[in-house]
Amino acid sequence: MASLPQTERILLGPGPSLASPRVMRALAAPVVSHLDPQMVALLDDVRERLVRLFRAPEGSFALAVSGTGTSGMETAVANLVQPGTRAHVVVTGYFGERLAQMLDRYGATVTRTDVEWGRACDPAAVRAALKTQPADVVAMVHAETSTGVLNPVEALAAVAREQGAVTIVDAVTSFGGHPLEVGPWGLGAVYSCSQKCLSAPSGLAPVVFTPEARARAVKSRSFYFDLALLEDYWVRRKYHHTMSSTLVYALHEALAAVDEEGLQARWARHERHHRILLAGLEAMGLSVLPPAGERLWTLNAVTVPAGVDEAAVRKLLLTEFQMEIGSGLGPLAGRIWRVGLMGASSAPHLILLFLGALERALRAQGVKVPPGAGTAAAVAAMAN
Ligand SMILES: Cc1ncc(COP(=O)(O)O)c(C=O)c1O
Repeated sequence: MASLPQTERILLGPGPSLASPRVMRALAAPVVSHLDPQMVALLDDVRERLVRLFRAPEGSFALAVSGTGTSGMETAVANLVQPGTRAHVVVTGYFGERLAQMLDRYGATVTRTDVEWGRACDPAAVRAALKTQPADVVAMVHAETSTGVLNPVEALAAVAREQGAVTIVDAVTSFGGHPLEVGPWGLGAVYSCSQKCLSAPSGLAPVVFTPEARARAVKSRSFYFDLALLEDYWVRRKYHHTMSSTLVYALHEALAAVDEEGLQARWARHERHHRILLAGLEAMGLSVLPPAGERLWTLNAVTVPAGVDEAAVRKLLLTEFQMEIGSGLGPLAGRIWRVGLMGASSAPHLILLFLGALERALRAQGVKVPPGAGTAAAVAAMAN
């Protein structure tokens, strides 16, 4: 018979990240109903914090949708797309592909800018595409978790605006880890998740619609993700669905932690730890897939050395070290490991543990790693 997990995993994969202890404590608060005065006060606070942390303009509507990151994606799509809407999608990996599929399911006429997996999108390519095939909506992934690539959302959104389109931006792996400026960058609908850079359990998807996106909203074909109905609940306290108070406690606590750390400091922490990890990897003779300047701080796509059984390495990390890292998706299956340093998982002691464990796993595969080189380089990088 299956039982609850008895050991804690060190979560260094593409998500979920480790939930911070204060978030775990929040999960134990008493369950209340979705319309309890204590619950709606928390909803108001979550809304206010999200608008601020997304750096969204005045008049934006932010909420947390019941569901994972994909529900955030579906909320953005369902409320901005109807049959006949012209949607252009930037596809730089698995999640851009998912956006394209979802837009198609909601009846959009979909055009695409496809980019080689492992590279960021050049805004000039999108400008050229939109000039020949205008679009009402331009959708893109900020942090492409399948390839470890950061797309230049600010520049891409400027192109979309210049061509008269509203943007849908996937910030699932960037919100709380990388700079994201919804207002200053002129974004439309932006969504994320609770389980990556925010370090809460999965189950809620922060979403924001700016005034521009709200003005262009269509009648949603989805009842569950209908922005107007969700606003009725979040603002006017009208029953829509029985939202989990427990998950709201966790998200609320996670957002409070972001506020206490400060967004700038949090971004700097993610960048610093990415650089420390990279120093360690390079000293071990390893590299990451995207070129410098296109790399995520939150998700590192580490190239698997020739002849190494990537699944055996992951298995050893899990069984000997209780440590989870991710495998490659689609064309990158077998070619990369995905190492996430997000939220509470972006910490110096975990980087040292990972580099040491990886050395052990690579040696078990017969790779000649200079002893201690990874951890030594990381320790040296910490002093810089
Ligand atoms: C960039 C991106 N978008 C969307 C999703 C989907 O999120 P979820 O698995 O929480 O539904 C993920 C999940 O990893 C992601 O990385």
